[in-house]
Amino acid sequence: MKIKSKPGPLLAPLPTVMVSCGTMYESNILTVAWTGIINTNPPMTYISVQPKRHSHDIIEKSGEFVINLVPASLVKAMDFCGVKSGRDIDKFEAQGLTREQGDTVEAPLIAESPVNIECKIKDTVRLGSHDMFMAEITAVHVDEKYVDENGAYDFGAMDLVAFTHGKYYRLVPEELGFFGFSVMKPKTAKRKAAEKAKRKRR
Ligand SMILES: Cc1cc2nc3c(=O)[nH]c(=O)nc-3n(C[C@H](O)[C@H](O)[C@H](O)COP(=O)(O)O)c2cc1C
Repeated sequence: MKIKSKPGPLLAPLPTVMVSCGTMYESNILTVAWTGIINTNPPMTYISVQPKRHSHDIIEKSGEFVINLVPASLVKAMDFCGVKSGRDIDKFEAQGLTREQGDTVEAPLIAESPVNIECKIKDTVRLGSHDMFMAEITAVHVDEKYVDENGAYDFGAMDLVAFTHGKYYRLVPEELGFFGFSVMKPKTAKRKAAEKAKRKRR
């Protein structure tokens, strides 16, 4: 039996990310869980931000932001950036984080994050509690530690954090399958198994 719950944002697990904004000299970070991918080509994402947040006006005026993915090593800094306001404190300084120049935006990347996603706003939708900034992804940076010689990403090794109804969880890096594995041909299964064994031996 299921218990009926009042309608609410119970989708889980969600990513929780650190969004950097402003410039290299005047920057801020806020934590955002209301984010996701909304289009592949052009690559598009969104963040939903309450108008009262200090970052809201910075993002709206500059028309850009950077999504920085959060590994377990940054979970405390991420939580801090989600409870303290840039009105009162420099969160880069307070958490010992490093600003890095982006390629297509003025907003700084967070150097300690393994993946930085530069975004330019295309549309803003005022939804109620939050404004949704829909944005094109204009550049992506991935720490070379997580890219193999064929250019494949090892997201399992990044130790990323998931957000589930108020709590932060570590993703256990146990691969359960991959896109399309339920219908793959035996020949492909054999090749994949050989590749996996090779990776393990390394
Ligand atoms: C895990 C977590 C997720 C959050 N997600 C959002 C979000 O999606 N949208 C939002 O407006 N605020 C969100 N917040 C709250 C802001 O990050 C928080 O109010 C922050 O202090 C705003 O910083 P600012 O005033 O410097 O902009 C979240 C906070 C936490 C801890």
